[in-house]
Amino acid sequence: MITLALSKGRIFEETLPLIQAAGIEVSEDPERSRKLILGTNMPDVRVVLVRATDVPTYVAQGGADLGVCGLDTLIEHQAESASDDLFQPIDLDIAKCRMSVAVPADFDYAQAVRRGARLKVATKYTHMARAFFATKGMHVDLIKLYGSMELAPLIGLADAIVDLVSTGNTLKANRLVEVEHIMDISARLVVNPASLKLKCARLQPLLDAMAAKAGAIA
Ligand code: PRP
Repeated sequence: MITLALSKGRIFEETLPLIQAAGIEVSEDPERSRKLILGTNMPDVRVVLVRATDVPTYVAQGGADLGVCGLDTLIEHQAESASDDLFQPIDLDIAKCRMSVAVPADFDYAQAVRRGARLKVATKYTHMARAFFATKGMHVDLIKLYGSMELAPLIGLADAIVDLVSTGNTLKANRLVEVEHIMDISARLVVNPASLKLKCARLQPLLDAMAAKAGAIA
């Protein structure tokens, strides 16, 4: 049995064409079903639906043979669970967005940086944020949140946020502006190293088909 871990939403939707390239059709729509294990047209392939942040854990611990997650999720996971062994063969070039620093439109970020102000920064991505501000030589107080980061500066909880930006619509709707581009983000395929050895004959063609299709989309 091959088990693929995906999270609902953009990752699931944008991974579908990649596994279809390997002849795999998922038999249920996760938006219509409450099932967490989805069958496919191939009796030995199944998809498990997990939280995006749990994909690396499922794959590293062998709960899934492979999975798809954002580079952001992978970086945060590796900072917290450095002993987890994950093979990361492919940048799938899907679910693209960027990690940015944003502030309220009327906040003079450049001046705050110039005068060495100690900023309060709200984020879910504390490891990436800490590393970024450290390279700039800035002291920041990080406030860990689990979502709706855009709200924090609006109600005075923080001066700035570090968050994913895709269309920019969420920032715009909340009168925030991007002031730093930390890095480009895309989804990565991660594979359990033991699975890759033990199930190579079954896994390798799947990985090859996904990589070829990802390359064709990019
Ligand atoms: C992400 C991110 C932003 C939003 C950006 O949140 O945290 O809030 O998308 O997208 P945009 O630039 O296209 O507006 P998501 O909806 O994934 O939910 P989350 O807060 O649970 O991460």
